[in-house]
Amino acid sequence: MTLVCREIYRSFKSGNETIEILKGVNLELDKAEVIAILGPSGSGKTTLLNLLAGLDEVTKGEVYWGDTAVHKTSNNDLARLRLSELGLVFQNHYLLEDLTVFENVNLTGRLQGKINKQRTMEVLQAVGLENRKNYLPKKLSGGERQRVAVARAIYAKPKIILADEPTGSLDRQSAKAVYELLVELARQEGSSVIMVTHDEALVKDLDKRYRLIDGKLIMD
Ligand SMILES: Nc1ncnc2c1ncn2[C@@H]1O[C@H](COP(=O)(O)OP(=O)(O)OP(=O)(O)O)[C@@H](O)[C@H]1O
Ligand SMILES: [Mg+2]
Repeated sequence: MTLVCREIYRSFKSGNETIEILKGVNLELDKAEVIAILGPSGSGKTTLLNLLAGLDEVTKGEVYWGDTAVHKTSNNDLARLRLSELGLVFQNHYLLEDLTVFENVNLTGRLQGKINKQRTMEVLQAVGLENRKNYLPKKLSGGERQRVAVARAIYAKPKIILADEPTGSLDRQSAKAVYELLVELARQEGSSVIMVTHDEALVKDLDKRYRLIDGKLIMD
């Protein structure tokens, strides 16, 4: 499945003012492609990922997941498709604090009513957290929490992973480790990845890097 967006716009109203954050963004993500989106704080990176994930609605423009026109699909259908096709890593982790690491990792399965314990252990091992499986998130370090978020995103072997600053708030070494883990797991599964970051050094080796500047996406 490919992900495409065409000429998307998103503005927000603040009092009488309308602020245009995205002003005609185009992107085509190929199968198994790993790309980075760079850009300063406030440039609209999270806004863009939310639109690509179908979690927010464009003011204008089109988003496609394969043949599915996201902008024309009901929220229920999007939720169902999202569970099977997309893996999301949110900027602030969004681990469920009342669930254990094990339960957080297979959340997608839980929501679909089919938990795969073997797969859960497999991804926990892949991120090196099998011995933390019964922990609640509050007992984890920042890097461990981000690895849980990565494990959760990869669990259902999604075709597309959208990761918003998956290494934010980590020191250089841990950031590199989490990033490399995400890319390696995605490559193993043939998933494509959009990685949002403001860490230039981290993604310097990727083939395609884009920059969000003045509401437009420009290839680096
Ligand atoms: N729901 C909203 N209502 C009003 N303004 C919003 C809303 N969501 C985002 N914005 C504004 O849009 C701009 C872009 O926000 P966004 O979170 O996309 O930036 P970002 O590039 O992800 O920044 P960061 O690197 O700090 O995470 C910000 O100025 C923000 O205040
Ligand atoms: Mg952001």
